[in-house]
Amino acid sequence: MTPIDLAGRRSLITGLGQGIGRGIAFTLAASGSEVVINDLDADRAEAVVDEVVAAGGAAVAAPFDVTDFGAVEDAVAMVGHIDVLVNNAGNAGVDGFGGRGNFAESSPEDWEPFVRVNLYGAMNCSRAVLPSMIDRRWGRLITIVSDAGRAGDIGGAAYGAAKAGAAGLTRTLALENGRHGITANNISLGTMRTPATESLWSDPDTDFAKSILRNYAVRRPGSPDDAANLTAFLASELSDWITGQTYPLNGGYSFAL
Ligand SMILES: NC(=O)c1ccc[n+]([C@@H]2O[C@H](COP(=O)([O-])OP(=O)(O)OC[C@H]3O[C@@H](n4cnc5c(N)ncnc54)[C@H](O)[C@@H]3O)[C@@H](O)[C@H]2O)c1
Repeated sequence: MTPIDLAGRRSLITGLGQGIGRGIAFTLAASGSEVVINDLDADRAEAVVDEVVAAGGAAVAAPFDVTDFGAVEDAVAMVGHIDVLVNNAGNAGVDGFGGRGNFAESSPEDWEPFVRVNLYGAMNCSRAVLPSMIDRRWGRLITIVSDAGRAGDIGGAAYGAAKAGAAGLTRTLALENGRHGITANNISLGTMRTPATESLWSDPDTDFAKSILRNYAVRRPGSPDDAANLTAFLASELSDWITGQTYPLNGGYSFAL
């Protein structure tokens, strides 16, 4: 049972998908928040709504494309207001990682899908929810970014740059909106074990799995629950004086100084 109390809050989680967003939705719902579940895929969003409701939570589906500002605005207008936005929708590339080759061989067409979802998606959703947060003088903007944006990632230049851009947006949103009772923070994930990255973990003896585990102080990949627990804290009253920060959530792979 979570000690975090989000009763009376309405949270929008984007790109709910199968992994991290799904875990966040369940945890926020278990903490008392109504959850608005977004994904590109309407069937996937509806299926998670059914599961959250069956578990005793309050949930509605809001399928839309985070890269389409008009669609985001319409969806937010439809549900009324949003207290907590979790920008989780992401495009990490093939098998959850860069997978696009080195930057020197890439083209603008290669970069565009990463920038559109990871950066414009966060901009669109943040812009759409902010007016009602300002009116209500309370809000939480939480953006799921990546250590690829803090530390770099061979083969993941566009992904890392887009995530770093989204993290930068958060800092300005924190500065501009703190006086309205709104905080904005990033969670920078290390390598997580989710359906999107399962193929990387299914054999623990691969060089990839061994090298990651060797470099993580806590020797396991992150889980959706790890991300969900920090998200719930940042979504709550408990984090009231924390804003503009980027939290590495990576088992001690790297540190924020
Ligand atoms: N899995 C990891 O190891 C890892 C590491 C660092 C950061 N992240 C970040 O965490 C977040 C969640 O990752 P995940 O592993 O759960 O990924 P995932 O691929 O399982 O989920 C992402 C979801 O976003 C949805 N989506 C993609 N484009 C969209 C759009 N335009 N509009 C709405 N929804 C869209 C997809 O349908 C998918 O369901 C992402 O932002 C990702 O970049 C993940």
